[in-house]
Amino acid sequence: MIGAVYVVAAMSDLYDTVERINRIFVSGMLLALGLTAVLGILLSGTITSPIKALTLQVTAVAEGRFDERVPILGNDEIGQLSSAFNEMTERLSEALSINEEENEKLSSILSNMNDGVLATDEIGRVIVANRRARMMLGQEAIEGMTLSECLAIDKAAIAGTLEGKESTRLISRAQDVSEEELVFRASLTPIRRRDKGVVGVIAVLHDVTEAEKLDNSRREFVANVSHELRTPLTTIKSYTEALDDGALAEPPLAERFVGVIRSETERMIRLVNDLLHLSRFDSKQAQLRRQMTDVGEMMEDVVDRFSLQLRQKAITVKVEVDPNLAKVWIDRDGIDQVLDNVVSNAIKYTLDGGSVRLTAGPTESGQLSIAVRDTGIGIPKKDLAHIFDRFYRVDKARSRNMGGTGLGLSIAREIVRANGGSILLDSEPGVGTIVTVTLPMVQEGSEYA
Ligand SMILES: Nc1ncnc2c1ncn2[C@@H]1O[C@H](COP(=O)(O)OP(=O)(O)OP(=O)(O)O)[C@@H](O)[C@H]1O
Ligand SMILES: [Mg+2]
Repeated sequence: MIGAVYVVAAMSDLYDTVERINRIFVSGMLLALGLTAVLGILLSGTITSPIKALTLQVTAVAEGRFDERVPILGNDEIGQLSSAFNEMTERLSEALSINEEENEKLSSILSNMNDGVLATDEIGRVIVANRRARMMLGQEAIEGMTLSECLAIDKAAIAGTLEGKESTRLISRAQDVSEEELVFRASLTPIRRRDKGVVGVIAVLHDVTEAEKLDNSRREFVANVSHELRTPLTTIKSYTEALDDGALAEPPLAERFVGVIRSETERMIRLVNDLLHLSRFDSKQAQLRRQMTDVGEMMEDVVDRFSLQLRQKAITVKVEVDPNLAKVWIDRDGIDQVLDNVVSNAIKYTLDGGSVRLTAGPTESGQLSIAVRDTGIGIPKKDLAHIFDRFYRVDKARSRNMGGTGLGLSIAREIVRANGGSILLDSEPGVGTIVTVTLPMVQEGSEYA
């Protein structure tokens, strides 16, 4: 019995101990769990917050903001990733700004270029056009149009370029502002990409209006000179042949023929001299020899030189000089030549019994103005704009019969310009013509002297 009691007591002790041990285990486990949770939270925080910061930075870079940086919180893997990312951001920002700079340079070169530039995509639609191209084509909204539409050329040319062929063509276009035509050379070049082949066309438009004009006037000039020389040469040839064929045996006839040959030869010499004179002005080799000149006296001398012709045509002449006009410092020989031509025109193109009036005086702005008025046949309005052009004659046949080549007024204008002045011609058919020469009154030793 006693033994049983002992056993019971020993068992309850054992249960107590087991109970205590269990409690210690449970609380130890709870403590460990709690500690693990706290540690877990702390650890995850140190990993996620740099990753969050990195994510924010990636978003910022994606949106184009390169000024922010990820904080580097240690030397671990995340720290290294952050610093690598910062470095990448910096490089990217540098590369982008270099790219932007290049783009700006390119677009400023394009917009300041004197040539028009158009670029198209692979189907020939314009994607880039510079300012000059818009101006030359007279179109503001070019982008989106096809190149063949813009340049008004056939589609085949653009298609050819898209197949890789280069080509050049001259295009002329009427301008809105002036009546003059704009002529430009369009060079079409394919844009090639190494991996994709031809991806578009570049058209460069070069303005050649002036060059074309010059070329035309040169051609015209050569044609004019040849024509002017051919006429007397043909006459001389036929008269020489006539002399050869027996006219020599008839002295009165021979004399007349020789007279014609001489006058045609003189005409050619005059023409060649005029051309030489003009070429000296063109190459700026003409020299001014200024001298103190009494304008009244100079004008009387001119009239004297034409007295025979004036008398023959019964043309009355008057010279009026402003008494306030003092002696002037001018290129006497040059101005003499100008007046000779203007007065000879006035006499040539005035019918018998008409009158010619020469006047001279100072203008309001203190220049010397010399005017020659006639009561001649006049010049139609449409011809006035060309009257100073080389070889220009209103009535070619009439003028040539009078020995004119149409160079007189162009030489006169060159001389007056070389003297720093200007020459104007106004006329009314059937009423008369007035030619006004305005010259600066130069002081001895000044810039024009
Ligand atoms: N006073 C004028 N009245 C009418 N027509 C004129 C007058 N002056 C010039 N013209 C016209 O202008 C043209 C050009 O004149 P310009 O003096 O240059 O040549 P030209 O007299 O024919 O020849 P050149 O002077 O070389 O002998 C003339 O052919 C003529 O038709
Ligand atoms: Mg003349």
